[in-house]
Amino acid sequence: MSGARRRYARVAGTGSYVPERVLDNAHFERLVNTNDAWIRKRTGIQRRHVVAPGETTLDMCERAARRALEAAGLEAGSLDLIVVGTTTPDLVFPNMGVLLQERIGAGPCMAFSLEAACAGFVYALSLAETMIVGGRAQRALVVGGEMLSRITDYEDRSTCILFGDGAGAVVLEAADEPGILAVRTGADGRYQHLLHTTAGLGRHFDRLPHEGHYIRMQGSEVFRKAVTVLSDLAVGLVADAGLRPEDIDWLVPHQANIRIIQAIAEKLALPEDKIIITIEEHGNTSTASVPLALDTGVRAERIRRGQTVLCAAFGGGFTWGGALFRY
Ligand code: ACO
Repeated sequence: MSGARRRYARVAGTGSYVPERVLDNAHFERLVNTNDAWIRKRTGIQRRHVVAPGETTLDMCERAARRALEAAGLEAGSLDLIVVGTTTPDLVFPNMGVLLQERIGAGPCMAFSLEAACAGFVYALSLAETMIVGGRAQRALVVGGEMLSRITDYEDRSTCILFGDGAGAVVLEAADEPGILAVRTGADGRYQHLLHTTAGLGRHFDRLPHEGHYIRMQGSEVFRKAVTVLSDLAVGLVADAGLRPEDIDWLVPHQANIRIIQAIAEKLALPEDKIIITIEEHGNTSTASVPLALDTGVRAERIRRGQTVLCAAFGGGFTWGGALFRY
């Protein structure tokens, strides 16, 4: 339709929350055969936050959501869409979107959760953006929250040192100007054996009461694939938006491993002072990782209005997704 004004989705506000309880690397030296020097050098992690007894993914999502709404200057009642990305929901159903809707006093808007491992937040952002651009929603709350401590095997040194808990949230709003400039998402189920949980409702259900369900990962193989996919994703997003790598003000990557982050930055020739790095403080918080890092950058007044931000995440499935937007 010629002359029609394009509709965009813009980030109106961000928020995040991490639990008070902190596990430093020394904690893991007492649990498994590892050491602080190895963890720092191979992953970049120094600390991670974990939930207190009784605290859950929903509690963290609520705090992050309230902070994002406050930053946007909006009431929960004005939302017409809530999407929560998580692999560790409080319940199978009611879904986390609905539970959060009730907690923050929103609704009766569409509210749901989705699971796409570490890419869950970007998947959620992609859906919310599509609904806003298509005119089906005006204001959306997009949240990523995880309590990975519930599915971490604290006897497995190759994974237990990596994961932490937290939540991050973004309020998206319809706008006449961008906003989100480009989004890419993808998945490849052929790699599910490299990164998965050990049991669920349909698989090894009988083991759940005795053995629990834990994350299992072939770290070095996941690492190699993550570097390739995330680098291609970042380069592709820049091209989709009609920009050059030097136009990117901030890279906000999934915080899985400092060496993966450095590899993406190298591919884009981005200096380290243009990257938001929170891995040393948060570890890998899966779906929460990107919005948590984004809000950390915003609240530190590093990411400023009008700047160009590139987010990219990769996780179990494999799943991946990235977004490039003007903040
Ligand atoms: N402390 C000391 N040594 C260790 C530890 C540890 N915590 N863990 C592993 N090692 C040892 C291994 O046993 C191995 O020893 P060996 O050479 O004697 O066999 C050696 O260190 C090297 O092991 P690798 O697995 O090859 O170590 P790598 O350098 O690849 O680091 C890591 C492992 C940190 C897991 C890395 O592979 C990684 O970050 N992978 C990608 C993670 C990721 O991106 N995941 C996707 C998102 S997560 C999600 O979706 C939930």
